[in-house]
Amino acid sequence: MIYFDNGATTFPKPLSVRRAVAYAMQNAGANPGRSGHSLSLRASQLIYDCRENAARLLGVPSPENIIFTLNCTTALNTVIHGVLKKGDHAVISSLEHNAVLRPLEAMKQQGVSYSIAKVVCGDDEATLESFRRAIRGNTKLVICTGASNVFGVRLPVERLAALCRIYNILFCVDAAQMAGCVPIDMLDSGIDFLCCAGHKGLYGPMGTGILAVNTDVLPQSLIQGGTGSMSASPLQPEELPDRFESGTPNLPGIAGLNAGIKFVLSRGEDAIFREETRKARLLYDGLKRNKNITLYTERPDPAAQVPVISFNVRGHDSEETAAALNDKFGIAVRSGLHCAPLAHRHFGTEDTGTVRAVISVFTTPAQITYFLASLDKIF
Ligand code: ALA
Repeated sequence: MIYFDNGATTFPKPLSVRRAVAYAMQNAGANPGRSGHSLSLRASQLIYDCRENAARLLGVPSPENIIFTLNCTTALNTVIHGVLKKGDHAVISSLEHNAVLRPLEAMKQQGVSYSIAKVVCGDDEATLESFRRAIRGNTKLVICTGASNVFGVRLPVERLAALCRIYNILFCVDAAQMAGCVPIDMLDSGIDFLCCAGHKGLYGPMGTGILAVNTDVLPQSLIQGGTGSMSASPLQPEELPDRFESGTPNLPGIAGLNAGIKFVLSRGEDAIFREETRKARLLYDGLKRNKNITLYTERPDPAAQVPVISFNVRGHDSEETAAALNDKFGIAVRSGLHCAPLAHRHFGTEDTGTVRAVISVFTTPAQITYFLASLDKIF
């Protein structure tokens, strides 16, 4: 399979990740933080090691501020449901994923409202102005994607964080398509909450995600339960990370995520971003030369985009193109709405959807050439 569906999850994973998962299952397969025996301590150490590496990668003040979640969606829900109460208002962007839109829509029943700020591609000043205009007296949270999962368009998250500081509003970034590719320093940028998938640009296994916290204003936890700490108390511990981490964690997944983060740290996010942009340009330029292809964004530019490219073959629905790529050429892409109807509405593609191709560090120039040649003769 020639794999271009790295926006959904990266594949393959580095060998070190696969080995780390197997190592955890074979050599540290006890319940972390629940017992004092050696196997449990080894498991706890593995998890702490991952917290330290994640904190280093994301510029988080302390390893305890790294919360492990099931995925990016769980992290986003923790912030949205945990921060907003009746009468509160939130601002989101016009490029959001359903992981942000649906929780907010559901919270309307609890008296929470939200507004959508229009992103103006290529004009950060105008995008900031859209957010500024959407802020109201009762706005408690601004939450937006760092980069669109469909079109790759980046949002000026550092400037939005500064804007939120001025208005004393919490700021949360959906970093699903950013983490592991775009360098992020939470402390420096003033982002309060950063939600990451563990299984995309961080190269960990599915079933892993991170909520990184850089504020003292902590959301209510979605769940309560055993944490292995303060067990005599019927109350959920207030401290991080236990406040949010009840129940047995996904140790093999976190061990794999740790190896994935170390893989990213050793290569360097800057280097990864440069390399992926170079390959994305190769793909983009080839698509541009094909007269039957409609592209929806400008040529990949690291300041404006992550290496996510959306296109359509003229006269063909995105699903049809994706099916033909799979069936005739063994190429994996994602088509349709990518769980992001808002983003498609923004780009006018809600009727057809788009075909999305996403580069990873493992994408080779030969695979790109094959992809382009396949599109030349697809229909
Ligand atoms: N959110 C993931 C995607 O964009 C699954 O495909």
